[in-house]
Amino acid sequence: GQFVQILCSGDSLDPLLPRPFSFLEATTTDFSLLYHVVGQGTQLMGKFKKGDKVHVLGPLGRGFTHSGLRAQQLLLVGGGVGIPPLYHLARTLVKADVAIKKNIHIFLGARHKSLLLCEKNFKKLGVSLYLSTDDGSKGKKGYVTSLLTAHLKKDHTKARVFSCGPTPMLKAVSLVASEFGVPNEVSVEVPMACGFGACLGCALKVKGDTPGSHRFAIACTEGPVFEGSKILWD
Ligand code: FES
Repeated sequence: GQFVQILCSGDSLDPLLPRPFSFLEATTTDFSLLYHVVGQGTQLMGKFKKGDKVHVLGPLGRGFTHSGLRAQQLLLVGGGVGIPPLYHLARTLVKADVAIKKNIHIFLGARHKSLLLCEKNFKKLGVSLYLSTDDGSKGKKGYVTSLLTAHLKKDHTKARVFSCGPTPMLKAVSLVASEFGVPNEVSVEVPMACGFGACLGCALKVKGDTPGSHRFAIACTEGPVFEGSKILWD
């Protein structure tokens, strides 16, 4: 859930703003990222060469809960480029306590099988894996939330959901989790500029302290991971 801001443009400063990326893997000394080339920033990143110096700021933000989870059933739900940070979470949990892997269930969804990221990584980790694609090219045809719902119907004892992906998916996952009374953490995708609370460009509408009230949370510092039930989804 934590992220780094990368200045993709180097010295040219075009584009001016850095881009946020969550980790695929990270240790105290290095990290790796997995991203799609979708715009000017990631196109420039794709041209980075070994030895280039890159401006990186991080780690930033508040990540997923990753302690005190041993006795729980951990359901990680990812879509698109929201999948890599869930691999990082699963790997971190397993590295800290190998016995926990039997409690980890991964649900991945994508439009097409070519977009189902990290499948091999999860298999290597030895966790349970459930796949879905919108077009049925791999796994169950349909949305990943139907896999999650089917699992929770069978057993939602001590379940806890973690999700990362496009906003409609996060909203749907959060609603499913709430239906079953299961706590769920979502890592939101919102536009970010500074990444450290200065520009207020990442404001996210969340429930306020009193019933029916709301406030705007700063996603880059208070999140990007939030309790799903606290977000006011449109
Ligand atoms: Fe600037 Fe969050 S990105 S305050």
